[in-house]
Amino acid sequence: MSAVYTTSNGAAVNEPYAAQRAGINGPLLLQDFHHIDLLAHFDRERIPERVVHAKAAGAHGYFEVTHDLSDITSAPLLKSVGKKVRVTARFSTVGGESGSADTARDPRGFALKLRTDEGNWDWVFNNTPVFFIRDPAKFPHFIHTQKRHPQSHLKDADMFWDYLSQNPESIHQIMILFSDRGTPDGYHNMHGYSGHTFKWLKDDGTFVYTQVHVRADKGFKTLDDATATKLAGENPEYGIESLFNAIESGNYPSWTVYVQTMTVEQAEKFRYNILDLTKVWPHSEFPLRPFGKFVLNENPQNYFAEIEQAAFSPSHLIPYIEPSADPVLQSRLFSYPDTHRHRLGVNYQQLPVNAPVAPVNNFQRAGAMTFISQGSAPNYQSSIQPLLYKAPPAGIDYSARDVERLARHEAFIGGAWRDLSVITELDFEQPRALWTKVWGEKEKAAYVNNVVGHFKNVKNATVKARQLSVWAAVDQGLSDRIAAAIGHPSVPPLKVAPASAADQFRANLGFAFTF
Ligand code: HEM
Repeated sequence: MSAVYTTSNGAAVNEPYAAQRAGINGPLLLQDFHHIDLLAHFDRERIPERVVHAKAAGAHGYFEVTHDLSDITSAPLLKSVGKKVRVTARFSTVGGESGSADTARDPRGFALKLRTDEGNWDWVFNNTPVFFIRDPAKFPHFIHTQKRHPQSHLKDADMFWDYLSQNPESIHQIMILFSDRGTPDGYHNMHGYSGHTFKWLKDDGTFVYTQVHVRADKGFKTLDDATATKLAGENPEYGIESLFNAIESGNYPSWTVYVQTMTVEQAEKFRYNILDLTKVWPHSEFPLRPFGKFVLNENPQNYFAEIEQAAFSPSHLIPYIEPSADPVLQSRLFSYPDTHRHRLGVNYQQLPVNAPVAPVNNFQRAGAMTFISQGSAPNYQSSIQPLLYKAPPAGIDYSARDVERLARHEAFIGGAWRDLSVITELDFEQPRALWTKVWGEKEKAAYVNNVVGHFKNVKNATVKARQLSVWAAVDQGLSDRIAAAIGHPSVPPLKVAPASAADQFRANLGFAFTF
């Protein structure tokens, strides 16, 4: 397609390189809008990069509902088998800057924007089912330790392990991150997990707790540490390139989407706190139920407009889908729109990639870059030209029994929140299962090798011993293997509260908690 070169106000220009001068060799002229606009726009090309998850690849595709979930939720989308909605996906590393290597050892972000008829529904997931923290106040501390040292501007092994060893609820994520899952083979050969618990509701007001899993149809492919390190030097864009090429060649990446569900009663009896995203729900007890298919079949035409400007948030939800009381999730509900207003401006939802296909009618007006006009519609709640309000779902009738049950569940939530503040023996069970039950010798050797490659750089003796004591609390043999590899004596396990301490917190509220 040929096009005529123009200024930004659309006037044709003969010569893109020309600048108007006074005479033949004189200074430039202020009247030369073309030249001044060219430089002024260039000067402003950068917007803030994301404070985390800056390096990414992205593409478009669709989500298709494959199974009816109307027994657990009244969300119209999830009962419409065969319904397809357009999706934008963005996969990212977390700690590195926008130019950093795609194969770095890091969790991967796995963000999807589902453009449903009921509004945009964002899945802002990671490629690991658990996370480093369960107390949101720790997030900025934690992220600072994974980024650059304030003085040296270097990544710093001492502050990295200082944070982790002081906050041993991170060990489950550290088991996964330092396995070969920490270096996925590209952005599209991996699974995504909600990590957090959400609530999916029905018209009658009842709900189930859910966790969503998005599993790559070709499996979760990983790189060993040596290959990932080599690629980081030779082809830092390995992940972007392999996703782009897969789509260009028609080899469309696809995923099957599942939900795990738990009733309120099951949550109250579950061994772990459902608001604690350092834990998984065992598949044997809470099976994966398929409900959708997700396919990426379209590369962006313009990366900046379609991927960099995409603004995902766990608070972009649709009716019948609600957040749980998980305090990390609750903090994220605020943090993402807040950073979008800073990064993209107050009207970020009006940018083409973010604008919902569902009609938006509200009282938000004006502000920088108002792209979408609501015309002459009133900018206040008018009686002359009223907006229609959707009636609350029919049939909500909390019987006395339900009111009592929900009130009791409130007490459970209160207790559950409180026990997030203690480290107990429960925190080591799932990491230990990985080491003793799930992994064979090959995976164990890779884990020790991957950890040692990083951990050997720690200089501080206290930090070294403390983190070894965290590994010893998982398994003494694991800790001793790492200790031997860095020439450190064996360290006994970290002392932690018994598993029953978590129940104590709940029991203190006068709520009977039974395992
Ligand atoms: C990106 C904050 C925990 C997944 C971000 C961004 C912020 C942030 C400020 C940059 C967003 C942007 O500029 O567009 C937080 C806070 C957390 C937290 C405060 C905890 C208190 C998590 C967790 C997950 C997660 C637990 C996954 C389960 C992501 C993803 C992105 C992201 C996927 C990249 C989104 C994109 O591709 O644009 N986070 N985060 N974050 N976060 Fe978090």
